[in-house]
Amino acid sequence: MELPFAEAWKIKMVEPLRISTRAEREQWIKDAHYNLFNLKSDQVYIDCLTDSGTGAMSDRQWAAMMMGDESYAGSASFFQLKETITRITGFEYIIPTHQGRAAENVLFSHLVTAGAIVPGNSHFDTTKGHIESRKAFAVDCTVDEAKDTQLEVPFKGNVDPKKLEKVLAENADKVPFIIVTITNNTAGGQPVSMQNLREVRAIADKYGKRVVFDSARFVENAYFIRTREEGYADKSIKEICKEMFSYADGMTMSSKKDGLVNMGGFIATAHEDWYEGAKRFCIPFEGFLTYGGMNGRDMAALAVGLDENTELEIIETRIRQVQYLAAKLDEYGIPYQRPVGGHALFVDADRVLDQIPKEEFPAQTLAIELYIEAGVRGCEIGYILADRDPVTRENRFGGLDLLRLCIARRVYTNNHMDVIAAALKNVYDRRHEITRGVKIVWETELMRHFTVKLERL
Ligand code: F0G
Repeated sequence: MELPFAEAWKIKMVEPLRISTRAEREQWIKDAHYNLFNLKSDQVYIDCLTDSGTGAMSDRQWAAMMMGDESYAGSASFFQLKETITRITGFEYIIPTHQGRAAENVLFSHLVTAGAIVPGNSHFDTTKGHIESRKAFAVDCTVDEAKDTQLEVPFKGNVDPKKLEKVLAENADKVPFIIVTITNNTAGGQPVSMQNLREVRAIADKYGKRVVFDSARFVENAYFIRTREEGYADKSIKEICKEMFSYADGMTMSSKKDGLVNMGGFIATAHEDWYEGAKRFCIPFEGFLTYGGMNGRDMAALAVGLDENTELEIIETRIRQVQYLAAKLDEYGIPYQRPVGGHALFVDADRVLDQIPKEEFPAQTLAIELYIEAGVRGCEIGYILADRDPVTRENRFGGLDLLRLCIARRVYTNNHMDVIAAALKNVYDRRHEITRGVKIVWETELMRHFTVKLERL
């Protein structure tokens, strides 16, 4: 008999979970103004809000923390991190930052000015926020296939070369760089193929532009290239990463995802001029160049985390768990962005709660229902997160309205996946009784989903 696949690690430390009652959860979510970000963590049973900074570190990472060098300048941990990043990405210049959005802030302070146009594939909300807050424009050039959640194509995160070329043909002088998010979080954790990265590079070269990868989940992307793209099945994850980054000029990184740490980020680039430009903003915003908002011990743990996660068995364990949950949803007939991506399941709320109009935010409604059902906390990646159009101030209903269920790295077991799936099935079975959604009673101009206050209709 063939042995089944199992995790490439065993558990050394555990953390108790609190199970609540439905009545408690109904009260808590009301008190939280129906915004799941306002819940306290002990009001949550299984937390699928995000895979960002929620993972479990390995014994080797914890050991590395004890060796962290907390020197203000010239920390040995910085040089350990720098060596690791350069070895994995090929980029020589490194600026640590306290998280991914800080890397965006530092780099974009140097590169993005009012009126600029930054094309890419579904900019993440902080990326979009850092562009739009500078009175510049984020133009989404994702392939149209990403909009059809039921379509099974291997690389739904791709940039549409035609759309990208059009932006450049019309406005090349306004484009400071192209940004490619690997994997494409907003489109459902969907990967970008090596072929597509090559095409983006060719278009960028044609117009003399540089390319940035938003690399939060670059290892997941490499895994999908290995398993889905011809010619990569025998390559190591590290080899694939190296090739991916050979098509970019630099990267912003949220280390809280594929760096396997709870906090951290960085900028890495091949270009001295970008490094020199970004440096000027690192010091006032983040800190001196050899710590950039991170503890020495956190840089040490990140160096180990990056090395660990770029090994096949670690990333495979992670993706297989997400695929396990997806298989359960298939069994129950619940529609989600297909094929399942790397870090999360994105349930197609428009299809599940099809009686709720867009104006009443179906995905947010589904997130609330799932929380009340079982204490499972997901996150709306939909019309609330999309913010309003900066010019017309209208809600942006053009994209997808998804309930994202993120899987933290090395935290939950497949029994927890069974609970999530069963809870979702229970909500799905009574979907026809859910006919009204929510309305916004208070919101901010940018990134409103974090703090929005809602009322149930
Ligand atoms: N880019 C992508 C693709 C992201 O998913 C995130 C964060 C960031 C940049 C910003 O990084 O949080 O370290 O400042 N995504 C988290 C999420 C918050 O839940 O998907 P950060």
